[in-house]
Amino acid sequence: MLDGPDPELTFDALVLEHLRPETRVLEAGCGHGPDAARFGSGCAQWAAYDRQPELLALAQDNAPAAEFHLWDGKGEVPQELRGPFDLIVSRRGPTSVINHLNAVAAPDARFVYVGPRLDVPGVPERLGGVGWALLGEWRVSVRAWVPTWTDWQTRCECMGETASRETWNAHAGTRGMPYHEERYVVLAGLESALG
Ligand SMILES: C[S@@+](CC[C@H](N)C(=O)[O-])C[C@H]1O[C@@H](n2cnc3c(N)ncnc32)[C@H](O)[C@@H]1O
Repeated sequence: MLDGPDPELTFDALVLEHLRPETRVLEAGCGHGPDAARFGSGCAQWAAYDRQPELLALAQDNAPAAEFHLWDGKGEVPQELRGPFDLIVSRRGPTSVINHLNAVAAPDARFVYVGPRLDVPGVPERLGGVGWALLGEWRVSVRAWVPTWTDWQTRCECMGETASRETWNAHAGTRGMPYHEERYVVLAGLESALG
């Protein structure tokens, strides 16, 4: 339960702002395909990859019109993921996609990313390293409540964090435990293509 707006709404707004009927989208780390299901019908192509085959099977069921590919972001980009794509997106997916932007992006493409904390190490540096400029950065922190220890464990697992029983015991009350949902949202474009 959040005490303010969902910190991922900025990512949603950026995706929607860049989505046109002719837009070709690549999604990195699509999981079970919630974004392909939600946004995929509003564009010309939604191609996505993930390294977990069982999630890709769910994604294909959830978003039958999208294309899903098994890839871990390592080595050469597979032919079917080379696009060119107009919009490359990732919701808490692998930042390694940044290394491949120039292999997959159309010249005037945009990259929209939301990461799971206020700073995701290396994102601005990696973008600069491949010649992409930060057009916008948003750091959002919203107080939230997690009702039970089991919920806290699940959330920590999802976010790649370790749940601490000591923290829970020290801070949990009748409403559960207060904490902050934090996100880092980025919009970027190829520097040489910007006016
Ligand atoms: C936190 S989940 C988010 C999934 C989805 N974007 C969503 O919003 O539900 C991160 C996803 O990225 C995938 N992932 C992490 N590292 C990856 C990599 N190097 N290559 C491909 N997928 C990766 C995971 O398998 C997982 O499905």
